[in-house]
Amino acid sequence: MKIALIGSGGREHALAAKISEDKSCSKLFILPGNPGTKQVGENISIVQDDHNAILNFCTEHKIDLVIIGPEKPLIDGLTDKLIKNGIKVFGPTLQAARIEGEKSFAKNLMKEYNIPTAAFEVFNKENYDYAINYLHKVDYPIVIKADGIAAGKGVTIAESFDDAKEALKECFVNSSFGSSGDKVVIEEFMSGQEASIFAITDGLDYVLLPAAQDHKRIFDDDKGKNTGGMGAYAPTSFVNEKNIEVIAKEIIEPTLKAMNEKGSSYVGCLYCGLMLTSQGPKVVEFNCRFGDPETQVVLPLLEGNFVELLYSAACGKINKGAVRYNGGTSVCVVAASKGYPDKFEKGFEIYGLENFQQNIKVYHAGTKEVDGKILTNGGRVLDVTSFSEKNNLNEAKRIAYDAITKIHFDGMYYRKDISDKAIKE
Ligand code: AMP
Ligand code: GLY
Repeated sequence: MKIALIGSGGREHALAAKISEDKSCSKLFILPGNPGTKQVGENISIVQDDHNAILNFCTEHKIDLVIIGPEKPLIDGLTDKLIKNGIKVFGPTLQAARIEGEKSFAKNLMKEYNIPTAAFEVFNKENYDYAINYLHKVDYPIVIKADGIAAGKGVTIAESFDDAKEALKECFVNSSFGSSGDKVVIEEFMSGQEASIFAITDGLDYVLLPAAQDHKRIFDDDKGKNTGGMGAYAPTSFVNEKNIEVIAKEIIEPTLKAMNEKGSSYVGCLYCGLMLTSQGPKVVEFNCRFGDPETQVVLPLLEGNFVELLYSAACGKINKGAVRYNGGTSVCVVAASKGYPDKFEKGFEIYGLENFQQNIKVYHAGTKEVDGKILTNGGRVLDVTSFSEKNNLNEAKRIAYDAITKIHFDGMYYRKDISDKAIKE
């Protein structure tokens, strides 16, 4: 099978590595890819927003399956364009991708189908005064979310009315998130452990992959600003035999049913962000794609035929036995640039990327290659990912941290407590 993977981050490097090892894949192209994906496939310099060029490339090279990594091309309708031209795609259509692209759509869907999530109200820019009024009446903390995509930065947990008003102003007055902030969801604050679970689906049937726990805040002990994710581990023991049933029956199944009834059948990876509250699992958010960095720790746990899983889902008849959990554990620690998620500098040379053992993979997230040197080129730079064959989180953590200390670039920063919540538990 000839496969084209769209994207250029750490998630795509992890996907590319997994796909390239699969016996069903005869040729892997990554559009545009990064210096890491180049080691496992062929990078093609076509950017994710150039849908025409992607279509032409796939037609010319008789691509059997396109896998779309990031949310932006999905929300912009790349799937629809490729499908119309007879190309098989793993990833939802524009209508189905609204589950991530419009938070108000996802929240209203959950309300209509009684899918457990935080209580909420939606406000438009034109109703600024109503929204302020509403903020006078609610309990704090409260959560304010820009409706559209905002690179993980559109969510504020407001401790007081003043914080909430400020967050609302960022959306409605300062337009900090562009049109993504013209509408906001204001929702109840939930507490509990967070978990991310991927449902691979053909629209009707689905397979749940092992659950992961992301670490969204920049500093240890979940302090500081939200980021795209500073590290993850899988499987997480917070998702257990008891609550997985609830997640499947009360969240995943009704969501797929709802999408079908809305005429937006969902094909691809449905990312379900959960809060495991004292009242049971509730949805924090849905994403229309694999998570980053959760993918980095979930894929090493799968044995079997991963390409077959995605291809059969894209063809409308998922092969539910294509992959199995292999019994292992994985920890990913993100090496970030000093200053991230605010302003940071780029272009520093990265040292120590060679000579890792089999149980370590260093995925490139924000790097570039110049004259044979690998330089930093983003906020999240590398995803140092360990694998332990045993279900031993302590060991997987130790392997990951041993490896990251061998890597160096100016201003390198990483969290020291990835997976500690589960280890303590
Ligand atoms: P989201 O982009 O919706 O996943 O939000 C980013 C992060 O904000 C989540 O991973 C949670 O840590 C936090 N968050 C979002 N919504 C809530 C909520 N209703 N209650 C508590 N924390 C939340
Ligand atoms: N790790 C969070 C996300 O992929 O949205």
